[in-house]
Amino acid sequence: MQAIFSDIEKLRKLPKAELHLHIEGTFEPELIFELAAKNRVDLNYKSVEELRQAYQFSDLQSFLNIYYAGMSVLKDEYDFEKLAESYFERAAADGVVHAELFFDPQAHTGRGIKFDTVINGLHRACKNSATKYGLTSALILCFLRDLDSESAMATLEEALKHKEKFIAVGLDSAEVGNPPSKFEKVFARARTEGLLTVAHAGEEGPPPYVWEALDLLKVSRIDHGVRSLEDEKLTKRLKAEEIPLTVCPLSNVKLKVFKDLKEHNLKKMLDLGLKATINSDDPAYFGGYVLENYNQCRLALSLSDEDLIQLAKNSITASFLPENEKRKHLQAIENQFNLTT
Ligand code: ADE
Ligand code: ZN
Repeated sequence: MQAIFSDIEKLRKLPKAELHLHIEGTFEPELIFELAAKNRVDLNYKSVEELRQAYQFSDLQSFLNIYYAGMSVLKDEYDFEKLAESYFERAAADGVVHAELFFDPQAHTGRGIKFDTVINGLHRACKNSATKYGLTSALILCFLRDLDSESAMATLEEALKHKEKFIAVGLDSAEVGNPPSKFEKVFARARTEGLLTVAHAGEEGPPPYVWEALDLLKVSRIDHGVRSLEDEKLTKRLKAEEIPLTVCPLSNVKLKVFKDLKEHNLKKMLDLGLKATINSDDPAYFGGYVLENYNQCRLALSLSDEDLIQLAKNSITASFLPENEKRKHLQAIENQFNLTT
């Protein structure tokens, strides 16, 4: 029997949630140039093509340098709204029904942009995407782990004035040397305010960082977590507690976590019964949005129809949607892609 997902168009129709997406990582070179012109910012690159050609990375830090430089042209609420609006348009076309977006406020407040400007622009785009595409969304405020914990705490205090506009806090930026334990107090404070928690861990950092994220930051999901498989005890715990892993395959290849997509451990995670999901991380920089991640993994890892449906279902169950919304999306997957009939 022919596979259901033998081409990308069927995969597009598979309802999916995107849970690991840095909105600043969706900043396409064309829009960077457009906003640079609007805001009269000089770029170090002469053209869109020249900028795109600079996207050759040797590790996470080499990417972060370009990523932070790119966002320097974001100035007002309109810019943040436009950035997110452009992402939602692409996500809707990829069959994304729900998206949880990371944003990095310190990367903006650190260069003189008000926190209110960032969150109000993003929040407006989130509301509009529900109306325009029926695509629901939520914001997750990420702390930059290479900055000190005092800066994270001050950011959280300021953010709490806008508590109704985001659902969780996360931890991103340069991982190695900045373990989750550094932010234990900040995350405890966030939890007392009713916020959920997630953290990047086990992308470049070792398994003990994943343990810390679980035990000290009490995260509901691990972002990346691909290095967890180096630790058998940790792998067993992730399975037993059904901790979701928001895996970003194309990102991992671009940042040299894996040499080639064929060597990625996503399929192994599924075979072990881990709750893995597919996400795009910083798609403007890593060569593909979420549908492209699904499709390239399908080809490189020989994912079966069952694997792909499991990944989509995992993305829904691992989301922070209310249970009735999750059921609705899971039912839609069942109705459209029932493997037993
Ligand atoms: N910020 C944006 N993308 C990131 C990634 N892949 N890891 C850590 N921080 C990030
Ligand atoms: Zn990330």
